[in-house]
Amino acid sequence: IHISIDSKGGNVTGGFHYGLLHEDIDNSGDGGLYAELIRNRAFQSSKGYESSLDGWYPVNGENLSLSTSGVPLSQALSTSMNVATGSTQGQVGFFNDGYWGMDVKVQTYHGSFWVRGDYSGYFTASLQSNITGERFGLARVKSQSRAHEWVEHEFTLTPTKNAPNSNNTFAITFDAGAMKSASLDFNLISLFPPTFKGRKNGMRIDIVEALEEFHPSLFRLPGGNMLEGSSNASWWNWKDSIGPLKDRPAFAGVWGYQQTNGLGLLEYLEFAEDLGMDLVLAVYAGLSLNGDVTPKDQLQQFIDNAMDEIEFIRGPPDSKWGAVRAKLGHPEPWKLEYVEIGNEDWLAGAPSDPDIQVISSGSVYDGYDIPSPGAGDYHLYAEPDRWISEFGLFDNVETPHLIGEMASTFPNGGTGWGSGVLRPFPWWGGAVGEAVALISYERNADRIIGALYAPILRNMNRWQWSITMLQFAADPAMTTRSTSWYAWELLAAHPITETLPASADINPLYYVAGKNEKTQAHVFKAAVYNSTNGASVPVSLTFDGMAVGTTAELTVLTGPEDPYEVNNPFTGVNIVKTAKTTVKSDNNGTFSFSLPNLSIALAFGVQP
Ligand code: AHR
Repeated sequence: IHISIDSKGGNVTGGFHYGLLHEDIDNSGDGGLYAELIRNRAFQSSKGYESSLDGWYPVNGENLSLSTSGVPLSQALSTSMNVATGSTQGQVGFFNDGYWGMDVKVQTYHGSFWVRGDYSGYFTASLQSNITGERFGLARVKSQSRAHEWVEHEFTLTPTKNAPNSNNTFAITFDAGAMKSASLDFNLISLFPPTFKGRKNGMRIDIVEALEEFHPSLFRLPGGNMLEGSSNASWWNWKDSIGPLKDRPAFAGVWGYQQTNGLGLLEYLEFAEDLGMDLVLAVYAGLSLNGDVTPKDQLQQFIDNAMDEIEFIRGPPDSKWGAVRAKLGHPEPWKLEYVEIGNEDWLAGAPSDPDIQVISSGSVYDGYDIPSPGAGDYHLYAEPDRWISEFGLFDNVETPHLIGEMASTFPNGGTGWGSGVLRPFPWWGGAVGEAVALISYERNADRIIGALYAPILRNMNRWQWSITMLQFAADPAMTTRSTSWYAWELLAAHPITETLPASADINPLYYVAGKNEKTQAHVFKAAVYNSTNGASVPVSLTFDGMAVGTTAELTVLTGPEDPYEVNNPFTGVNIVKTAKTTVKSDNNGTFSFSLPNLSIALAFGVQP
């Protein structure tokens, strides 16, 4: 295939965004991105979820019970854990087994807990093996505890030894002989390992690093279904997710488990800032997953709430909500360019704001006209063949669109939503399909804002959805970059700010070419899908006006013969092969190389 690329005449864009949708599904937030190690740290309850002692166990046969008597720690955290001991001496207390284990290393952990009761001794906070009981580290914390008052205790704990595996627990014990009350109440028991960029209440380092390494530049939050809540009485209200942890009530998660709200709006924004991602803020539209619809005359409360949220994010520090943000430690406003109204609510109309691109939570392909200047949101969880058949879908659509959720989820051959058979992990053929789709979107980058992989993370101990870009568990050795991660990483690595028209037809070589204003690089991205007889495709490429003898770096990703093979977190084997070569244009200015079937390629050279 010969492709001759013009030097002008394409689409000028601000740079197509490769990014992610995050919502708490598969314990991707609590027990995932959010670095908190303690499960059920504050005995929270919310609509549909009762307070419980899940995750908590006595150390020496004490009686652990839920307590709502006396003054609560806060209005948000009204239930605590009462620890009553029959003994009059010896160490008593409790332990927590975390989100299916805890990673214990020689590093500094920051912990805290609130306690009420008359106790004058020391608390011992420790990390130990759940199998052998071996203690890896402990901290002694002098009690400041008082009979009728909640007192916070903070400590640091540095183990002296790495644990051999993640089957570990965190315990707090105290001396029964130094107790003057018959029992002690505990709440908000928290332990953090070092976090990404050292942020307090921050994110898990290995997970954020794996996300950062695929160069995402757009972040849609807070969902997905999570935004909508199960009913109009339990939607995700950002106001519950800011401020001191003791003032954050739980969120009635929509994926079968309750969320702490520890990972709140400010934490999301700081995460986006740390990774250099632009924001797509989804605001609640008064529609919920159970079909609850808010009547028009009651909608104003949600509109006001959304406007407050927007002011919190981008308002000056002397505005009402900008001042709240400043007080929480972030006086600088964030840039907020995109606001989406709801999630998959299929709302066609959208108000406009001169500085904000408002996005409707449906696309023209959901059967709606989206009035200008609104944008649409197209979601697709698909078979790889579907991406190929939709290659030109956005070529002639004037309405701008976000591809707000996408992933290859089903094998070719018709086992789609009806069958409910998601593949267990992203697979190589699916990743090549996604690459074809991403290339088709980037060709239209003047109208397609970007494409977001969804959902992005899965804790392997939780199943709501199997196809995610990364899988992980308590042990960082399980953190697995899927086949899709490799595809997205390669395509996102070199943004194009101006696409360049090219002569050749597509199929089986799907491509986009362009240049990057900032780096002055010429970029060619391609994927080969279903070539004739599975043969390699010879490619010759010329860039109009490019000097002969220019060199370009060519990276080609290929997978194994079986396109359904996966990067399995339990084996840790990466099946994606990466080959990098330098190609040089000949005396006619032609770059020549060959691309195997089911491969993804990126070539870039800097204009001399
Ligand atoms: O990504 C999983 C779910 O799929 C999202 O929550 C929802 O928006 C979509 O239907």
